[in-house]
Amino acid sequence: MSDLRDLYQEVILDHGKNPRNFGKIEGARSAHGHNPLCGDLVTIYVTVQDGVIEDIRFEGSGCAISTASASMMTQALKGRTREEVDRLFERFHEMVTGRADGTQGTDDLGKLAVFEGVVEFPLRVKCATLSWHTLKAALEASSEAAGPEQPGTPEPQVTTE
Ligand code: FES
Repeated sequence: MSDLRDLYQEVILDHGKNPRNFGKIEGARSAHGHNPLCGDLVTIYVTVQDGVIEDIRFEGSGCAISTASASMMTQALKGRTREEVDRLFERFHEMVTGRADGTQGTDDLGKLAVFEGVVEFPLRVKCATLSWHTLKAALEASSEAAGPEQPGTPEPQVTTE
């Protein structure tokens, strides 16, 4: 198990140092997320085509866990439907908060399972979930708005609870 933990830690550090899909998508729906415990911020940009995540990127500054979580979330969600995104977020949240019933394992989470150890550090749960909450806000704003984003539409702000 400690080999697996070392591997998980390595993956998180790698994504924390070299985040994938980092940057802005011009004209995309977006939302800002804020972790009140540390002041860290993330902005998620997402485009959806026919109910499927077409592109997703992020910007911001945070700890290794929040940056790695945002990076790996963007990799995991490209090409997913809204329903798949909701289900994965639910499963991810259950895993990091320890609310999973223990019978499902983490196979359906794929590489996101590297955040399994967060459950032992309750203060880091917000770090791991910040980008997910922010994405949800961006998608909800997107589905509330009929049609493409209008110039001047305020971006939703999320503070993790
Ligand atoms: Fe700020 Fe993790 S310490 S998001």
